[in-house]
Amino acid sequence: MQSFSLILFGATGDLAKIKILPAIYTLFEQSLLPGDFSLIGSGRTNHSEVDFRRYVTDILRHKLGDRLDESILKKMLSHTYYAAGDTQDPIFYQKLSVYLIELEERGVPCGNRMYHLAILPELYTAVAENLGLSGLNQSKGGWTRIMIEKPFGQDEQSAQALNTQLTKYFPENNIYRLDHYLGKETVMNILAFRFGNSLFEPIWNHKFIDHIQISTMESFGVGSRGKFYDSTGALKDVVQNHLLQVLATTLMDRPEDFSVGKVRSERQNILGALLPYTSASQIERHVVAGRYQGYHQEKDIPDTSKTETFVALKLFVDKPRWHGVPIYLRTGKKLKSTISEVSIVFKKPPFQLLEREELDSSSTVLSLRLQPNEGIILRLAVKRPGPKMILTPANMEFCYGDLNSQLLEAYVKLLLDAFQGDQTNFALMQEVRAQWQFVDPILKAWEKDKKTVKNYEPETWGPTAADELIAHDNRKWINPL
Ligand code: BG6
Repeated sequence: MQSFSLILFGATGDLAKIKILPAIYTLFEQSLLPGDFSLIGSGRTNHSEVDFRRYVTDILRHKLGDRLDESILKKMLSHTYYAAGDTQDPIFYQKLSVYLIELEERGVPCGNRMYHLAILPELYTAVAENLGLSGLNQSKGGWTRIMIEKPFGQDEQSAQALNTQLTKYFPENNIYRLDHYLGKETVMNILAFRFGNSLFEPIWNHKFIDHIQISTMESFGVGSRGKFYDSTGALKDVVQNHLLQVLATTLMDRPEDFSVGKVRSERQNILGALLPYTSASQIERHVVAGRYQGYHQEKDIPDTSKTETFVALKLFVDKPRWHGVPIYLRTGKKLKSTISEVSIVFKKPPFQLLEREELDSSSTVLSLRLQPNEGIILRLAVKRPGPKMILTPANMEFCYGDLNSQLLEAYVKLLLDAFQGDQTNFALMQEVRAQWQFVDPILKAWEKDKKTVKNYEPETWGPTAADELIAHDNRKWINPL
């Protein structure tokens, strides 16, 4: 890999603290960075280089605990720099240009640059514009790339406007639209598992599959991210991006090969086929919004907030392969536990030959556990030992823990991909547009008709309306084992 600088906007923010700085440490730990890599943090906090290194040290000590190796930390810090400033102020970019020249003079190569925007989404457009106007989008000595966190835009129109601004200054192959779920080992494994075993392709369709459930549930609340979360809500925070990308990965056709173009275009084919809701009454029947009790007491949440912390919905994909197969999505905060899972529920055998011990569990279910306890469970029916021919459910399990190798953190994988110029696990603009085209009608209906947000108690699986949504189809949520 060529030498390069990662210029991290939002270096003192939550995302950098929780995901990005630990991921960079791991890249150092695993010697996956070029020798003259540099991390140039940027934030509004008026840190000096020394202060920022101290800040990084505190964050990593706290986050990694015993895993932290002081010699690796020392190495990382010797490659760490800081440029204080306000990303909304054009003068800051002039200062940044001067600082990069100064770093070059100090022997830190900054010719190749990756700008990573880990800041509030409403600031993206101004940063792209300022990078362009200041000339920082170009580098005489190398490449410049830009990496943008989700949500990309607030609806289709603003996503399109953001993209227009970005593409004015960066060519498409230098734009990395990041959805960290695409970098999770277990999400990538959906493709490996499906296409690496000839068993699944013949049954991966409406003839054999009854329905699919995709859930990302979290036991924690909004914590210190109230400001971001309240202006976003569960639909835009998780459904529009993470859940729809997992859906696309689960349902997509086999790509001709695993090249960036082929994989992204298969994902896009599914996202482009999501059937949008066409009326307010359909939205009312198929989408449930919820909010945990106590949300209004969280830090930075106004008393009048209408933001949802839970969404459950039912949708269809307009493809012959998936004809009539409902997909149920569910996400929320302050739920019973933290679990992300895809469950493929197969159709029941055509007639009930044998007596079943538990009528409720009469389907074969393939559950792909994305996290935690990453693994795969196949629930089948077997004969219960004994004199009678009675079926009972039994689980066949695979647990990643048994492989004896460490799962790579999504951010580690994605940063590495982006540094190497591989866009496979980053979204195309067409994917992002298709995601908004599905979500926009819900947002509009909620705005117009003042959405109903059902309260739910913390430590439950969400509002009862979510159970009713699926029970209406004579089905049940599969709550994790
Ligand atoms: C982020 C959302 O994109 O994903 C958070 O903003 C959410 O609200 C998080 O908690 C979930 O990510 P993970 O990797 O912890 O499942």
